[in-house]
Amino acid sequence: MFTLAKRRAASSSRALTKIGKFSGSHRTLSTKVGSPSTRNWLYVGGVGSLATAIGAFYYGKKSIVDSPPSDLFPFESTTALQDIAPPQYCTGDELKTAISEISKIISQNQIVSSGPELDGHSRNGFATHPPEADQIPKYIVYPLSTEEVSSIMKIAHKYNVPIVPYCGGTSLEGHFYSTRPGIVLDTSRMDKVLKVHYEDLDVVVQSGVNWVELNEQLDGSGLLMGCDCGPNAKIGGMVATNASGINATRYGAMIQNVISLTAVLADGTIVKTKQRPRKSSAGYNLTHLFIGSEGTLGIVTEATVKLHVRPKFETVVVGQFPTILDSTNTVAELFQNGIQPGAIELLDQHSMHCINYSGYTSKPWLEVPTIFFKVGGINEKVVNENVKAMKAIALKNNCEAFIFAKDKAEQEELFSARKNIFYSILEYGKNEIHEDVGLWVTDIAVPLSKLSPVLETVNQLIIDSGLQYIIVGHVGDGNFHADIFYKPEEKAKCEAVVNKMMEIGLANEGTSSGEHGIGNGKRNFLQLELGEEAINLMRKIKMAVDPKRILNPDKVFKIDPEDKGTN
Ligand SMILES: Cc1cc2nc3c(=O)[nH]c(=O)nc-3n(C[C@H](O)[C@H](O)[C@H](O)COP(=O)(O)OP(=O)(O)OC[C@H]3O[C@@H](n4cnc5c(N)ncnc54)[C@H](O)[C@@H]3O)c2cc1C
Ligand SMILES: *[C@@H]1O[C@H](CO)[C@@H](O)[C@H](O)[C@H]1NC(C)=O
Ligand SMILES: *[C@@H]1O[C@H](CO)[C@@H](O)[C@H](O)[C@H]1NC(C)=O
Ligand SMILES: *[C@@H]1O[C@H](CO)[C@@H](O)[C@H](O)[C@H]1NC(C)=O
Ligand SMILES: *[C@@H]1O[C@H](CO)[C@@H](O)[C@H](O)[C@H]1NC(C)=O
Repeated sequence: MFTLAKRRAASSSRALTKIGKFSGSHRTLSTKVGSPSTRNWLYVGGVGSLATAIGAFYYGKKSIVDSPPSDLFPFESTTALQDIAPPQYCTGDELKTAISEISKIISQNQIVSSGPELDGHSRNGFATHPPEADQIPKYIVYPLSTEEVSSIMKIAHKYNVPIVPYCGGTSLEGHFYSTRPGIVLDTSRMDKVLKVHYEDLDVVVQSGVNWVELNEQLDGSGLLMGCDCGPNAKIGGMVATNASGINATRYGAMIQNVISLTAVLADGTIVKTKQRPRKSSAGYNLTHLFIGSEGTLGIVTEATVKLHVRPKFETVVVGQFPTILDSTNTVAELFQNGIQPGAIELLDQHSMHCINYSGYTSKPWLEVPTIFFKVGGINEKVVNENVKAMKAIALKNNCEAFIFAKDKAEQEELFSARKNIFYSILEYGKNEIHEDVGLWVTDIAVPLSKLSPVLETVNQLIIDSGLQYIIVGHVGDGNFHADIFYKPEEKAKCEAVVNKMMEIGLANEGTSSGEHGIGNGKRNFLQLELGEEAINLMRKIKMAVDPKRILNPDKVFKIDPEDKGTN
């Protein structure tokens, strides 16, 4: 049984009650009334109503009642870190027992514990706080259905096993990096497209479906899923991180695209958040609650996701500008003129150098700030009219080269420069900076009107540091990444620059994460951005649905008062 430790003395000024250790659901109050050790203690529970308990407190009487313990349901609306006891996870033996129970309900090939597989599920090379040797998970478990996830969670809950949900492993802030040795629950084998509703423009999928493959399957129907992100990402991870990519300008992030979810809670309970209407005002929006929750509130097993009609005609246009300011001014002016491109992707001069360097496209580029646009419409004529208007606006803003694709092949060639940027910069960094070069990938977002000044300031900041970097922006929604290279010995310097960059973003009414999320990398910035009370409210929600804190522990915010991490 999960034991609840005493609430900490530090919290007494704001806490109404103090709770003692207990290990059963029925307790009797046998200590003497008013003795020093019990004076501050209140026993609360199900038999007596909460009102009685509160009343008893205020009138100084004692109330003898059952669970739920008020340690988990204290009267405060929020949960401060110092008000909770450290979580108690399974011992190594208990984990083995749990795995042997799990192995009775799924087949052998669904449980893996080989070194390479554990390693592969512990890090992906992007985030800067990889697990220590004693934090690596012990098992990877591959469920095949919602029911299996539920049964597994019941066992994990019984033995207090830390469970890290995992899908495509492409997240960038250490979202799935284990911090407590337990189980990684990999839902990628749940990869069935369950039903396409062509007329309703939605699709029901299991969480392991990859978005690229889904779009390939939908290709003939003229429909597509609006969200995109890392090519290997899968629906469960995309829901959990509120993914948004190149097409978010037009179709929105996951939050605008998910209609309903099936999720399994920490204790194995299965919930479906909605039926299938596009619009509903029925009750709390539980769908919304799970989106962006980074696997800390439940395991997504199925999702109903909106589909969009592919534009009948689409082309790619590229504008190259002398300065970033000219490029972002162009975008602002396009919006002001009611022109809504399908994608608006900024690559700065350093990115263009990497693309040029890597030779991923046959075309040599000017090494200046460049915007890649997708422009779609119901026919070629409409699209051409749009392109004409765009060209006029770009030229007015000092555009040096305005390039448009002549045919499909050229469209792909042009846009591939944007698509391959990640690989181009990695190649450049390894060859030209250091063979073990690190790349610190960050993403801040600010209100559109602040984008240009913030970009200028950030540019200058990194230049002054002497580090090399590139800036890539999903400019349509004011969201950009500064990816900074650092040699092994420059990590601290790089971290200082990133910290400063976050401060600049926040000072400009921005956010510390425009799209990648918090994971284990940005908890401190989330605190800085939202303040303690907002985090305490998140923690309260977490404690309400996962009081044992077994789901993706230590991500987004701290759940353990003994967690001394500064990230
Ligand atoms: C080259 C590259 C480009 C990228 N571009 C973009 C971009 O343009 N936009 C963008 O938003 N992101 C981008 N990303 C980041 C990444 O692709 C997204 O964050 C993506 O949503 C992660 O999905 P995943 O399936 O890989 O999730 P994972 O990395 O496996 O997991 C991410 C989080 O979701 C949780 N999770 C996983 N599965 C489940 C589940 N079934 N139920 C509940 N929680 C779960 C995990 O615990 C973790 O917290 C990029 C990454 C790369 C490598
Ligand atoms: C974005 O949407 C367009 C249609 O507007 C489509 O052609 C393209 O493939 C999508 N891109 C991604 C990365 O999904
Ligand atoms: C609930 O949240 C989902 C996901 O963000 C969203 O698509 C839907 O419109 C929301 N519903 C309501 C009624 O707000
Ligand atoms: C999801 O992303 C959208 C678009 O970037 C943003 O408006 C929204 O606040 C995000 N929601 C969550 C819960 O992360
Ligand atoms: C682009 O790269 C090519 C090959 O590396 C190089 O010859 C050319 O000078 C570069 N272009 C610019 C504008 O620097």
